[in-house]
Amino acid sequence: MNNLATSILNTFKKKFTTQPNVYFSPGRINLIGEHIDYNDGYVMPAAISKGIYYAVAANNTDTLNFYAADFDESLSIAITDVKKLDNWKNYVLSVVNEFVLAGKPIGGFDCVFGGDIPRGSGMSSSAAVEGGLAFALNDIFNFGMNRVELALLCQRAEHNYPGVNCGIMDMYASINGKKDHVILLDCKNITHEYFPLKLDGYKIVLLNTRVSHTLASGEYNVRRKRCEEGMEVLKKELNVQSFREIKSAADVELHKDKMKPEVYNCCKFVVEEIARTQKGAAFLQQNNLAAFGEIMYAGHEGLSKLYDVSCPQSDFLVAFAKASGNVIGARQMGGGFGGCTINIIKDEAINELIAAATAAYQKEFDIELEAYVMEISDGVGRVER
Ligand code: GLA
Repeated sequence: MNNLATSILNTFKKKFTTQPNVYFSPGRINLIGEHIDYNDGYVMPAAISKGIYYAVAANNTDTLNFYAADFDESLSIAITDVKKLDNWKNYVLSVVNEFVLAGKPIGGFDCVFGGDIPRGSGMSSSAAVEGGLAFALNDIFNFGMNRVELALLCQRAEHNYPGVNCGIMDMYASINGKKDHVILLDCKNITHEYFPLKLDGYKIVLLNTRVSHTLASGEYNVRRKRCEEGMEVLKKELNVQSFREIKSAADVELHKDKMKPEVYNCCKFVVEEIARTQKGAAFLQQNNLAAFGEIMYAGHEGLSKLYDVSCPQSDFLVAFAKASGNVIGARQMGGGFGGCTINIIKDEAINELIAAATAAYQKEFDIELEAYVMEISDGVGRVER
């Protein structure tokens, strides 16, 4: 067990007398395919070595006892009292609520959790919190649900108490990740294939703008609504059922005058991003990193200009990366409005690039940049002791 797992286990032993299992639930990166998981697209995420650790044990009572180590806060609540509260409590209680709604006989349990995903960074700490608890409860109470069922349960949980109408990508990646592989996830059929991520001579580095995005701020749900509104028009005009059936953005443009400008822009982005992800998957499998990198930069352009989910800080970091000559591809990652940019950087240039970006970013925004070199990990699972 690593230090974090050990510390969560030791905290559990101080707080409770039951015998826990320990679990690791990873965060995720996304190589390409942003905001199309809820638009029937394909996305290309991977689970990472940063995540949330859980220690959980059944306690043979009707009470759920939580201790959130990162907040130094506790909550004890009867199963029958589970309801929407606030902050971290909503993520764990919403998962419990979904098991109850699914008719699963949840019993009381003791639970300590905490981790190392910077919050609001676009690495999906919320999906890691939800997926870790869902996996642990499924394991402890022997519900026999498979990983896809657990991901769908977590997605419903995120829609319910936290109120974010997210797609399936984050929880799916956190639950189904595979070490050193990316997941090509078909978000319409909820199926996936893995392929090895070979980045000979390059690494994935996240640059954290430290501008905290909050999906719950409502902008995420607004984007989703725009896409739904546009799809209503396109269904009639193009005789399609889904964005993935639209051949090219030119077909969307034919009906531009029937949509509000912001709705048109979102639809155009979605059709282009679906195409980018399909092309990107082929490029990665052919080890054509240069072509893949171009697609990342183009994706950022779309996120910024069309989908309107970027911010000056993300735009700055992507432009800085592009101008450096050592970053083969970069873009803002995740829900947007800040968080991290994802960069594919030449090994030998990483330290220099981080130092230069840190200095320039400090000068421009007076914010201290954080950088993380990524390791791709397995999805949620028990940590052997
Ligand atoms: C958030 C959501 C995901 C996905 C991304 C954008 O991370 O939780 O479902 O929509 O934003 O790609």
